[in-house]
Amino acid sequence: MKIIGRFLLAIIYLVIFVSNSVDSVDRHNFKTCDQSNFCKRCRSMSKNQISPFQLVPDSVSLTDKYLEAVITNTKYEGVYLRMRLDGLRDSTLRVRINEDGKQLYNRFQPVHALASEPIPQSMTMARNETTIELELEQSTIKVYITIAPFKLIVYVNDELAMLVNSNNLMQFEHYRPKPESIPDNEVGSWEEFFKEHQDSKPRGPSAVAMDFTLYSSSNLYGLPEHADSFSLKGTSGNDPYRFYNLDVFEYELYNGMALYGAVPFLMGHGKKNSIGIFWLNAAETWVDISGVKSDADRTSVVESIVNLVSGSSVDKEVPQAHFMSESGIIDFFIVLGPKPLDVTRQYSSLTGTAPLPPLFSLAYHQCRWNYNDQKDVHNVETNFDVYDIPMDVMWLDIEHTDSKKYFTWDPIKFSNPVEMINNLTSKGRKLVTIVDPHIKRDSNYFLHNDAISNDLYVKNKDGSVYEGWCWPGSSSYLDFLNPKVQEYYISRFAFNNYLGSTEDLYIWNDMNEPSVFNGPEVTMPKDCVHHGDYEHRDIHNIYGLLQVMSTYEGLLKRTSGKKRPFILTRSHFAGTQRFAAVWTGDNIADWQHLKISLPMCLSLAISGISFCGADVGGFFNNPDKELFIRWYQAGTYLPFFRGHSHIDTKRREPWLFDKQTTSLVRDTIRTRYTLLPLWYTLFKTHELTGAPVIRPLFFEFPSEENVFGIDYEFMVGNSLLVCPVTKPNVQEISVYFPGNDEVWYDRDSHQPIKTNGPIKIQVPINKVPVYQRGGTIIPTKQRVRRSSVVMRDDPYTLVVAIGLKGTAKGNLYVDDEESFEYRDGKFVYIEYEFINNQLISKCIHCNTFNTNSWLEKVMVVGIPSVFTKASIHTVEGSTELSVLYSASNQVLTIRKPAVGIAQNWTITLL
Ligand code: GLC
Repeated sequence: MKIIGRFLLAIIYLVIFVSNSVDSVDRHNFKTCDQSNFCKRCRSMSKNQISPFQLVPDSVSLTDKYLEAVITNTKYEGVYLRMRLDGLRDSTLRVRINEDGKQLYNRFQPVHALASEPIPQSMTMARNETTIELELEQSTIKVYITIAPFKLIVYVNDELAMLVNSNNLMQFEHYRPKPESIPDNEVGSWEEFFKEHQDSKPRGPSAVAMDFTLYSSSNLYGLPEHADSFSLKGTSGNDPYRFYNLDVFEYELYNGMALYGAVPFLMGHGKKNSIGIFWLNAAETWVDISGVKSDADRTSVVESIVNLVSGSSVDKEVPQAHFMSESGIIDFFIVLGPKPLDVTRQYSSLTGTAPLPPLFSLAYHQCRWNYNDQKDVHNVETNFDVYDIPMDVMWLDIEHTDSKKYFTWDPIKFSNPVEMINNLTSKGRKLVTIVDPHIKRDSNYFLHNDAISNDLYVKNKDGSVYEGWCWPGSSSYLDFLNPKVQEYYISRFAFNNYLGSTEDLYIWNDMNEPSVFNGPEVTMPKDCVHHGDYEHRDIHNIYGLLQVMSTYEGLLKRTSGKKRPFILTRSHFAGTQRFAAVWTGDNIADWQHLKISLPMCLSLAISGISFCGADVGGFFNNPDKELFIRWYQAGTYLPFFRGHSHIDTKRREPWLFDKQTTSLVRDTIRTRYTLLPLWYTLFKTHELTGAPVIRPLFFEFPSEENVFGIDYEFMVGNSLLVCPVTKPNVQEISVYFPGNDEVWYDRDSHQPIKTNGPIKIQVPINKVPVYQRGGTIIPTKQRVRRSSVVMRDDPYTLVVAIGLKGTAKGNLYVDDEESFEYRDGKFVYIEYEFINNQLISKCIHCNTFNTNSWLEKVMVVGIPSVFTKASIHTVEGSTELSVLYSASNQVLTIRKPAVGIAQNWTITLL
């Protein structure tokens, strides 16, 4: 009976999840703020109350690096909190507030998000009876703390930048014993129902909240992952933006519903400066936004300052954010810019940057749920060669396993995985297999047996092992918070444990929100218990991050730290960038989903996670050929470039459409390969500086208000402006050209555009509107081959786009593309400058890594016709070079300079 019941349940969930019908998301499966009792409680706090939180004046103490003080909640006698404010290096502040003294339950702190312990910066303090004044050394930052009520006022350069607890919305619900009889208005704090699910909340209310006013900003950005516009919208009248990592079937666009990932990082930007808030909390979190430029009801900053001085709440005037979390502590960082790239540097010095990925992972990936067997993999892979389309990675989805038991292979369909992988690697290709976190409860599965005997699973609140439903049917979930589980999981990736794997096999971590088909909101119940006696409620949003951390360690360890791992993850949190790339999950083959992939990846990029992409072609449903082509064209310019599709869709490898489609998809994938040196150099720069690899226009043009809301186009680094076509059947689109002393060159025709503002551009199906910014030099490789590895020693072509001042700059990074030896200095780094009609290659770091690549060609774009010759000067002397000038597009091609790429040289135009 039990077995039949389970079987029926499995069928029901499979029907729900595998069904290919495109109704939009069933909203009823997911909570609104009203249905999430703590959100309702925090949201209904009145801005007009006086905040009950006050500093105890005598408790304030300052070491040379941080200030500590006790805070009382005047509503409850004997409730004390401890506040610590740290000054940190690089214009950063951190505030932590926790219960003081012994607590009923430990409050969880997701330190996993942090790359390392932040570096302190000394502060000085002055105080009077009502206010404490702190000054952060080596900066222009001053912080005023008011004692009653507790507020923080942050000034940069004597200008008001931010107010904390501005609207008196701070909340800290201390743990308390469960009352014998629960008052009516507190029932939802002690127990909550959602559909058929009960959240027993044995620990009662524990919410924390804080509100922030960002005086110097007009627009707010960040807070991924949401399928919404890039510039955040005011939430009044709607639900707040929600962070609760969920497997949302056929997600809806343009709203703040929760999705697979949570990065509680918010960026504010105004004409003069940028600022950021990082709310470090892994519990369910909602964020209300108001006062952003698009809000009709906002009033002026002046009025708001008047309100501030008069002591009342700040209302509607300037951008505000109200963070509300179900549990954990109050822990937030404020990074004070002042420029956008300062904010991303400051934020990534906290949560880390992405380590340089292996080059192949920036190339094209081919995935499908599923490639059926080894023969299928072989045929697909060979056809990429037949059709002359480059491809680096084949992917295997869940069906490749033996009955959804990860780390195994279907014995019939994938009987010889090593042979399959070796076939791929013989052409420079790799394999990725999927490894989900749920474990099939099958007594013939070693992993399940190990997990039971070593006590590795997440528990129910009564201490029994939690059981839910996922792809394999009845499953349990590894408790990645437990160091013992981490160690065990890391060892699973050893070649002698993961049989059939080789060092050319990489990993895809999916369903790691975690997805539980029969759980509340398709995830794990909040009253499940993890290692250290934390409830699932406390750690939910880092579950995926924890899995990915162990996977990363596993991949590192299997080659004794020699080779760079590559992992793709669906669920993510702040800090995920240190371990994995992210994709936007189960999108739909329609134009709106193509369009939303740009703001979704931009939001992630400014929030530390540059390595982002969307399923090219759309996961659910079948794209028509126009959508298919346009999606490949857009995907070419997003950092992670992978075609993927649902098991029920028609096969759609690029040659299965008509000839024109195959040819256009080939063209755009080939373009991606020509640009790999640029992508690689940008990822290297990201690793060093945190600069997002793709970025919104305002990053490069911070004072141009017209670009603050643009999310249909973006920049690749600082050099390429990309405006993919995301509408069907259009002959022309409007492209906005930023900057009033800029020139942009069409990447195809090389025609210059000097207008600042929107211009209509013709977009026949073969046209991808991409422009190189005058004043930049980009490295490319023009000899495209079947995979990136076989292009390793190929020569480079530099594309020099002359700026209005007649100059240009660029750089190039080269190394072995796969190992960590670059960290021992084995790399090449070159800076290029075009000035006074000379192109200068300055090898900044060259002697420790040998590359066979050489310089094949230089194209100088936007140059007048006065030059007929060129000469190159190296240490060995000077040689004359032949040039070709095209008057129609003002391009001078310098052919065969034929110098090794890692050299100093000067080319002079004559
Ligand atoms: C999830 C993933 C999708 C994958 C499928 C089967 O829906 O998001 O990419 O193909 O699971 O593993």
